[in-house]
Amino acid sequence: MATLLIVHHTPSPNCQALFEAAVSGATTDEIEGVRVERRAALAATASDVLAADGILLGTPANLGYMSGALKHFFDQVYYPCLDETRGRPFGYYVHGGNDVTGAVRAIESITTGLGWRRATDAVTVTGEPAKADIEACWELGATLAAGLAD
Ligand SMILES: Cc1cc2nc3c(=O)[nH]c(=O)nc-3n(C[C@H](O)[C@H](O)[C@H](O)COP(=O)(O)O)c2cc1C
Repeated sequence: MATLLIVHHTPSPNCQALFEAAVSGATTDEIEGVRVERRAALAATASDVLAADGILLGTPANLGYMSGALKHFFDQVYYPCLDETRGRPFGYYVHGGNDVTGAVRAIESITTGLGWRRATDAVTVTGEPAKADIEACWELGATLAAGLAD
């Protein structure tokens, strides 16, 4: 069975809403044959990534970058995963107060370094998530999971 790993930093209710939507999409009954594993970014390990067939990342924008927690995740997994995870499909959402540009740039840069393949558009949200933002995160989860389905 394929595994989709969700690595997220979720420090607030608005981030939680996006996370829950992504999980809901990834675990929808319409998609079979995909195990969805969730890990807080500060707890996720290289072993989690090596065992995953696809990765969904979620983070707030902090100080013009991804969260320190997601940065810590990448610091931990980068070299242990570099050889074996090239080509892995991934996707991500970023939540911010007003400007997520730096966080998006950082995620694109580090995943390019890893050789991961973005399988669907990034979801970027500022402020309180609208219904369309929640739906976009649901689609993000569903699209990544469907891409791994039998
Ligand atoms: C230290 C700190 C730095 C932040 N930096 C940014 C930033 O660079 N860009 C941005 O859009 N939001 C920034 N924010 C806002 C967070 O992204 C936002 O608080 C987080 O996504 C949670 O959303 P919420 O507060 O609406 O629940 C920052 C928040 C904190 C606490």
